[in-house]
Formats: sequence, C-alpha cells, structure tokens
Amino acid sequence: GFQKVTSIPALRQLRHRALRAGNTVGFVPTMGALHQGHLALIRQAVRENDQVYVSIYVNPTQFGVSEDLSSYPRTWDADKVKLAALAMEFKNDNQVGHMSVVFMPKTKDMYPGSPPSSEVDGQGSFVTITPLSSRLEGTSRPVFFRGVATVCMKLLNIVQPERVYFGQKDIQQTFVVKRMVQDFHLNSEVRVGPTIREHDGLAMSSRNVYLGERRRKVALVLLDSFKEVQRIFARGAKKRRFLYNAAIERLSLVEKQQYALPRDKRARFEIDYISIADPDTLDELEEVDAEHGAILSGAIKM
Ligand code: PAJ
Repeated sequence: GFQKVTSIPALRQLRHRALRAGNTVGFVPTMGALHQGHLALIRQAVRENDQVYVSIYVNPTQFGVSEDLSSYPRTWDADKVKLAALAMEFKNDNQVGHMSVVFMPKTKDMYPGSPPSSEVDGQGSFVTITPLSSRLEGTSRPVFFRGVATVCMKLLNIVQPERVYFGQKDIQQTFVVKRMVQDFHLNSEVRVGPTIREHDGLAMSSRNVYLGERRRKVALVLLDSFKEVQRIFARGAKKRRFLYNAAIERLSLVEKQQYALPRDKRARFEIDYISIADPDTLDELEEVDAEHGAILSGAIKM
C-alpha cells in the first residue's frame, strides 16, 4: 500500500527515513486524472528504485489566464483506485521496489507568501529556462514552461529523488527539466518514458476528455501527418522544407475538408506549430542527418 501525504514536513521526514535506510527514491510528478501514460512511468520507477513517490498537484502557475485551470479534471477518487490496483500489482510481482507515497500538497504550502497567480506578472520566485521555454509549445503558451520549471524545482527540492520520471509525450518539458537540473546542479537523474497511446494511436492525455467524439477522431490527423513525414524520411527526404511541407499539406487537407462539412459535423482546428528539431538540443534543423535523426513534434488547436 501507499501513504497519502499532504504536508511538506511529513514528506521530508519519510524521505529522510528512506535515505537513512539506504533506499533509493524514484519520483513521478503528475497533475492527477491518471491514465496508462502516468501508470507506465510509475511502473518504470518501481523497476528502478526501492521506493516510488508520486505527486498529484494541479499547478496553477503553468496555466495561462485563458487556460483550463478551473476545469482541469480532478479525479482523486478514481486516481486512488488506480494507484491501489497498481500497488497490488507490485506486491504480486517481485519488483525491486514499491510505490510508497502519494504526495498531494496544498497551494498555500507550495507557494508560501505569494497569492498563486497564473498571470505573467505573478509575484514570487520563478524559474526561467531560456530560450527553450519560449519556443514551440511556449510560443502560444508564454507562462507554461516557467510554471512547469518552477513547480518541478519546488517538488525536486522537497522530494530530492535519486531519479525523476517524465513522459516523452511532452518532449519539450523533458528538455526544460533536464536543462534546469543541469544548470541548478539538482541531484536527481531525469529519466524519460515512452509515449503511451490509445488503440487508434492517439497519445493518452488527461485533457483528451475535452475532445468529444467528432474532434477525438479528427485529432488523429496530427499523428497521421507525422507518419507521413516518417514515410518520406524513410524514402530519403532529409531537408526540412520537404518534411515540414509533408506535415502541413496533410494537416491543411483535413482542415479544409472540415469546412466542407455542415456546421454541426465539423471539427475545426488550426495548426499551432510543427517542429523538426535536433534530438540533443531541440534546435530547429534545416536538414536531418540520417544517423542522428530528429524530433518531430507539433500541436494543433481544436
Ligand atoms: P501531467 O500532464 O499529469 O503528466 C505527468 C507526467 O506523465 C508527465 O511527465 C507527462 O509527460 C507524462 N505523460 C502524460 N501522458 C503520457 C503518455 N500518454 N505517455 C507517457 N507519459 C505521459 O506534465 C505534467 O503533468 C505537469 O506539467 C507536471 C510535470 C506534473 C508539472 O506540473
């Protein structure tokens, strides 16, 4: 079983005890509304550490003013059932470790002294990773990575895990956190787990519940466009121009098809960005080296 902890001193005490007992701690930060993507990271952490701490905290500073802080799914009862089932699985499975703590801090403790604000000019201490945070996802969500880096800094300082786990689905987030860990000499190793998908290929996400049936189907166009890019890459296309255009063409086609549909059948979307970037630096590439490869990522706004 696992222990639910809300206070920071109580968490620190457990962590201290683990350290003194020589137990390694793996940490999986989440915002709850748990799905198989989260659970896969927890499983990986259990394989690689004596103890695993999971945090569930909907961090206000990573939401823009017009984003979904108030409507973000909060499903503690369902999360608890999933975590309990997972804990049972470990018990029967002879793993290295087990999931021992679920940390659910309060905002007044996480942001002491400053009224939590999702606004750009929020007061208090923030961690900024430049220029990484203003690119790609950061272009249309200017405060997002500042909020992510800030809360991860807080959580890593509280938990001080040997290893911390993030999903490849949010690849830019993994770059931001790795850079922060390096620059601030944090004593945790960042590990990245693979993207877990629904049967039809859509990446699992707590926010998928927003999509509804029509948009849920059309959302797959992003993955389809990526597969198209992979195909032409495999056939020898290496220049950004060709790869990028292949993605845009596919997306634009489906976007136009939506307009041809009657209003009540449409699932409209806009292309936010498509990135073809260096796998080490996330710098945009003009040409992809066949050996070195590239990270293809993107977003559409529905
Ligand atoms: P959240 O969206 O809850 O995701 C928590 C972790 O699960 C992140 O590392 C994310 O990349 C990973 N994850 C989500 N969906 C996944 C999937 N389909 N496959 C694999 N991994 C997946 O990301 C956050 O929360 C927050 O920004 C956080 C890091 C907790 C800071 O507040």
